Amino acid sequence: MTTSDDAPTARSSLDDAAAWQALSPLLGPFLPWSSGAMRPTGLLTVLNDVWFRRSPNIVELGSGVSTVILARLLHELGAGQLLAVEHDQQWADRVEKQLGQERLNDVARVVRAPLRPSVHTWDSGEWYDEPVLLTAVEGTAVDVLVVDGPPAWRPGSAHARFPALDMFAPFLAPGATVVLDDVERDGERDVLQRWSLEHAIRFDMRPEAGIAVGTWPARTRAS
Ligand SMILES: C[S@@+](CC[C@H](N)C(=O)[O-])C[C@H]1O[C@@H](n2cnc3c(N)ncnc32)[C@H](O)[C@@H]1O
Repeated sequence: MTTSDDAPTARSSLDDAAAWQALSPLLGPFLPWSSGAMRPTGLLTVLNDVWFRRSPNIVELGSGVSTVILARLLHELGAGQLLAVEHDQQWADRVEKQLGQERLNDVARVVRAPLRPSVHTWDSGEWYDEPVLLTAVEGTAVDVLVVDGPPAWRPGSAHARFPALDMFAPFLAPGATVVLDDVERDGERDVLQRWSLEHAIRFDMRPEAGIAVGTWPARTRAS
């Protein structure tokens, strides 16, 4: 029985079931979906956005199943590039191996960026190695930025994803899509609030997909 309390969860499950259907053409070789991966509904939202773009440059913070699925779509479209930023060397090896096995290295690359102390964090935590990020993204106009890393579930890391917008703002193309995953958590909602205060971007909450979606304007800073 569905009560008013569990109705959002029931709706999310239905949305995810429908998203699986839509994703099925991209569900080739097995991938280890886990609770750390983006929800099917959230990933489908990103894929839809990518599909409508001519030759999108995508940056994804936090690699995984989503990286491989996005790469499969770019390969199918025959256009676009994906940079997937990963802090964990072993996980980077695993994702890279999968991309290689599926001959997707021409459309997707794993950028290995270990976490380091950074002055740009909200609560003096760690952030991806900044010189590595800047070198990887130099000269790129980013059309889609997916923020699903660094991990922000450990105690003390609730705002770990905050530096993403400051860091990538200079590289975002006008009209770029910015997606933050895991918005059911307080920390991500705090991050969204500060991003909206400090940048000229507003986010549309999609709780059924676990994400918030914003569109980067031509103007880069809130006046
Ligand atoms: C929120 S996850 C990123 C998930 C990815 N964007 C996706 O949707 O598949 C953040 C970090 O967890 C680690 N990770 C992701 N998927 C994992 C898995 N299935 N098993 C172990 N670690 C994983 C990686 O280090 C990744 O950078």
